[in-house]
Amino acid sequence: MEEQLQLYVTELFAVEDPILAAIRARHVAENLPPIHISPDEGKLLHVLLRAIEATTVLEVGSLGGYSGVWIARALPPHGRLTTIEKDPRHASLARRAFSEAGLSNRVRVVEGAALDVLPTLAPGFDAVFVDADKEPLAQYYEWSMRLLRPGGLLLCDNSFFHGAAVDAADVTPAAQGVRAFNKLAAADPRLVATIVPVRDGLLVGLKVGE
Ligand code: DHB
Ligand code: MG
Repeated sequence: MEEQLQLYVTELFAVEDPILAAIRARHVAENLPPIHISPDEGKLLHVLLRAIEATTVLEVGSLGGYSGVWIARALPPHGRLTTIEKDPRHASLARRAFSEAGLSNRVRVVEGAALDVLPTLAPGFDAVFVDADKEPLAQYYEWSMRLLRPGGLLLCDNSFFHGAAVDAADVTPAAQGVRAFNKLAAADPRLVATIVPVRDGLLVGLKVGE
């Protein structure tokens, strides 16, 4: 989206409160990679989760907890976000973010590599948001579909991956992972999906079959 239009959407619909602004500022202060989602993307996740009345969400890749706050705020008080983070420093900053947002009782940060943690989780999630390393995305796809309930939402960040999605010359493992995830989602008869061109692309899919 053109930058000015993104700003227009953000200022109308996705203004951050001081808590979100502080979490974002901390990414800079703590030298976290500047790859968290944008406020307009956060608001889209929030609306989608409210639309399906999600109570349980799985996130792969917590980073500093910014997306997690947008997600957890979409859940009812008894809801639960389970978010997986392999970097201990990121996990600790994410926990701090959830605590500051008053969401600690609604969020479980699981420290570990996603491919180690995913097999330990019980299926039945209302939504899965994949926003982690890109190389294993095909494996994250299969785990997400296994853990989603029928009628659940599959969400994945960076579907465009800075244009690498359409750059066949980019054969880096990350670019191949992104393209593999998109292809799997497009071809899977269990899923009705598309990519919303917000920020770096958000894949949105509805699981319609087991
Ligand atoms: C990058 C961006 C992301 O949003 C992400 O989840 C991972 C990597 C990047 O720009 O490299
Ligand atoms: Mg991302």
